[in-house]
Amino acid sequence: MGKRFNITSRLNVHGGLLVIQKKTTISIIKCDVGSLAGHHVVPEPIFSVARMHLKKAQNEGLINSQYVFNAGDDLELLMVHQKGENNSEIHNLAWNIFKEATNKAKSLKLYGAGQDLLKTAFSGNIKGMGPGVAEMEIEERDSEPIVVFAADKTEPGAFNFPMFKIFADPNNTAGLVIDPSMIGGFKFEVLDVIENKKVVLKCPEEMYELIALIGTPERYVVAHVRRARDNLVCGSTSTTRLSLIAGKYVGKDDPVSIVRAQHGLPALGEILAPYMHTFFVEGWMRGSHWGPIMPVGLKNSCCTAFDGPPRIVALGFQLCNGKIASDDNGEPLICDLFEDPAFDLARKEAIEYAAVFRRMGEFEPARLGSNSMEYTTLPKVLEKLKNRFVKTDV
Ligand code: F6R
Ligand code: MG
Ligand code: MG
Repeated sequence: MGKRFNITSRLNVHGGLLVIQKKTTISIIKCDVGSLAGHHVVPEPIFSVARMHLKKAQNEGLINSQYVFNAGDDLELLMVHQKGENNSEIHNLAWNIFKEATNKAKSLKLYGAGQDLLKTAFSGNIKGMGPGVAEMEIEERDSEPIVVFAADKTEPGAFNFPMFKIFADPNNTAGLVIDPSMIGGFKFEVLDVIENKKVVLKCPEEMYELIALIGTPERYVVAHVRRARDNLVCGSTSTTRLSLIAGKYVGKDDPVSIVRAQHGLPALGEILAPYMHTFFVEGWMRGSHWGPIMPVGLKNSCCTAFDGPPRIVALGFQLCNGKIASDDNGEPLICDLFEDPAFDLARKEAIEYAAVFRRMGEFEPARLGSNSMEYTTLPKVLEKLKNRFVKTDV
């Protein structure tokens, strides 16, 4: 994997000169390495470990740009490089950072230190080892706006509804109606996380079948989206389910995703529009409850009320010759997109709906349905009642 030859994506002839353009890869790799005051927020000493190692990797030329942030109790490493997807050096870098950050978390007795590091030895690819990964290898367009999303207290299927709205719903994305370069629609690669199978469905033609699948977000997860007319990749999400890796409840999968914007793709504002209202996602408190997702700026990226409500942050940036466009001091130019008051209504709705659900306590539908609860710790509690059930005729 790591030996992947990754030079060429395009040969351009400029004034008689043959210019070789390398592809650029955006990797966002995340892990809950331990947090402050319960499963709440990543504290500064953990960020410092991550920043120090990513800066070193940047200086040594392994990666071109990096940015460290958090979604609640999850440490998020954003890396831009030219090594391709599933590259063992990049994954190894993230794995080592998570291990060292875990040591720091242990030394401070932070809560849940190392909870997502499910395996002990790195084997070339961080997928399936606990941390979440979304990656996208692309040919940079003349201008390449990117949005990365990171959520806490939810699961990868949480992106199904917004991904559908962004790339298939003409009432969300005006470009599907107005821009001739988008009229051919988009293809959705959907993963069945229980049986490890995938299928590709094209919208608008197969929109109803797509909804039939991804309307069940705990099982069917939108993994990639491509523009139908040229297969241009434009959306990518993490698809891990920790409980399926570990065979028992070990925490949430707290997902990440990457979306490309503009010029024949959904505009930045069309990518963010689904978050003008809240919607319900699985995974709140103990991975066992439905909750309204709350879009927040980085300063509010911490989970409090009933360990939530589930939160999501969105960061915007431009790619520039294999890097994140940066200021004169080399600092990446990053926009904290949900910091904007335009998302105040969604935040207010999320708080109100959160309160409504909490009033219902442990009764469905506030609590997840029984199938999903099989992946939590509830079956252990019910085990002791097993032998007390007696047959009855009615
Ligand atoms: C963790 C999470 C939390 C925990 C809850 C109980 O990602 O979502 O809601 O499930 O705080 O945690 P423990 O069992 O560690 O006390
Ligand atoms: Mg945690
Ligand atoms: Mg988390």
